Amino acid sequence: MTRLGINVDHIATIREARKAIEPDPVTAALMAELAGAHGVTVHLRMDRRHIQERDVRLMRQLVTTRLNVEMAVSEENLFLAADLKPDTVTLVPERADEITTEGGLDLVRTLDPVRDAVNRLHALDIQVSLFIDPEIEQIERAGASGASLIELNTGAYSEAAPKALDEADPLFLEELGKIVDAAEHARKLDLRVLAGHGLTYRNVGPVSSIPEVEELNIGHNIVARAALVGMGQAVEEMLYAMNGST
Ligand code: PXP
Repeated sequence: MTRLGINVDHIATIREARKAIEPDPVTAALMAELAGAHGVTVHLRMDRRHIQERDVRLMRQLVTTRLNVEMAVSEENLFLAADLKPDTVTLVPERADEITTEGGLDLVRTLDPVRDAVNRLHALDIQVSLFIDPEIEQIERAGASGASLIELNTGAYSEAAPKALDEADPLFLEELGKIVDAAEHARKLDLRVLAGHGLTYRNVGPVSSIPEVEELNIGHNIVARAALVGMGQAVEEMLYAMNGST
């Protein structure tokens, strides 16, 4: 069975659109756990555009599965991690004006600071996962970083299968092949393999079938579906609040 880590960032995006108190990503995280999710992931971005420190502090107290906090490598973040004590920190690259994480860490260029961050987080008893593209060179460097986990970036795979899944499409097969090869190579180096980014109900099957991939981190598409499958009930409840009947 492949585990599911649910990313609730975009519940917070809806809240922050109005600077309101609802919807609360902490409530969403707990509901996801009750529904069977194996862990909760949040990205504490430098600009705090969605998840706030307050959310992570409450989740730390309330989440009973595993709490994974994605963050960029910085002194400020390492200090925060020591304070927040998530079960796992996933180190990600971050660019201020990106819409979402654009690619994996470039471990060829940044192995030294990443290795230093891994050591410091391990000293705090925090597991470390490295978000990297499915490239052999990156896997090799991840193996040299001291981290025990990697999260393979499925962004290019997801873009190769944007609408319907055409399993005969050469680009789709190429991107899927990169994830399969990267996962196999990582296991040979004793790295545990997770994956995520851009996964949807339509394209998740081939990735969740890769035996080496233990866990998927999925956010946007689950939040998108939750908004729509919940729309009918939400309208009925508003009519009831207005008129005492639907
Ligand atoms: N993994 C990482 C490292 C991410 O940065 C994100 C997006 O925050 C995800 C997984 C989840 O991606 P999505 O929201 O597209 O499912």
